[in-house]
Amino acid sequence: MTKKRIMSGMRPTGNLHLGNYFGALENWVKLQNEYECYFSIVDWHALTTGYEDTKDLRDNIIGVAADWISAGIDPENSTIFVQSGIKEISELHLLLSMIVPLSWLERCPTYKDQLVQLREKNIATYGFLGYPNLQAADILIHRAEVVPVGEDQLAHLELSREIARRFNHIFGETFPEPQAKLNQIKLLPGLDGRKMSKSYNNTIALSDSPEIIIEKVRSMITDPEKIRKDDPGHPDICSVHGFHKVFSENEHQNIYEVCVKGGMGCVACKKKLAENVVSFMAPMYERRLKLMENKDTITEILANGTKRARNVAKETIRLVRDRMNLLELE
Ligand code: TRP
Repeated sequence: MTKKRIMSGMRPTGNLHLGNYFGALENWVKLQNEYECYFSIVDWHALTTGYEDTKDLRDNIIGVAADWISAGIDPENSTIFVQSGIKEISELHLLLSMIVPLSWLERCPTYKDQLVQLREKNIATYGFLGYPNLQAADILIHRAEVVPVGEDQLAHLELSREIARRFNHIFGETFPEPQAKLNQIKLLPGLDGRKMSKSYNNTIALSDSPEIIIEKVRSMITDPEKIRKDDPGHPDICSVHGFHKVFSENEHQNIYEVCVKGGMGCVACKKKLAENVVSFMAPMYERRLKLMENKDTITEILANGTKRARNVAKETIRLVRDRMNLLELE
């Protein structure tokens, strides 16, 4: 039986952190055997909001690839590639832009939201308005049936389906309608209890060394009412406990009970946590260190993956051009 095709992507905007790992990557790793997977480093999408400062873009692309591979994405099994290496995506983006009504893009909740949130960046641009159209091109160029994403992407997936439907309606059945597959998420707060996010500066990155992790855990803020070590604690509002729930599977209930009774101080509790986080992350960290020693290997992996992905893209674009009656000169 042929495997269904999956496509997903991440923007190369910096090192990935545990929020990205538990929110998406962990799922991707598990899907690799069941599906034919295409994972894209979407650098054009990064430009839609970050066009003014591109000095770190190359490093970030390599960094994301290193993060993926060290987290368990197997480039022999899955195709990992760089979006801008596939020119056919830009052609499809252009062709789709002919049929996508402006109103679909303007009413997209992420568009309206980001315009306000990123006010200082001036993203009232043509490229940013077309963000979901570019995402549709990413997905449709691979004729992917399944797209593993977080909840924040559901509106984009809905638009991708509408665009596919509209194309199929005008030019004949060409694209499958891509279905979102919601990532199974382990809820991990940021170091300060808010959502883990680079902009809050409260992350643990996959590239953090054990020393950095230990230091980050040590400086986490705990229950403010637990001042002395035998004060009873309130683990339900303590981000250290939020971490224990993810990293201390067998122990966290016990830790909870001891904390509530004032049987353990925060220093000891964090020490235990740091040990567990470090031992969970150590294999990834080691793999990443090794990979980054020889960045050419990473570039080579990306070049191979991009070539493979491009073969599929070329087939699709041939079909699309044919359906639209564009003249083939080659
Ligand atoms: N918009 C997605 C995000 O911010 C990234 C993305 C770009 C994507 N193209 C994609 C995700 C195609 C899935 C499929 O997370």
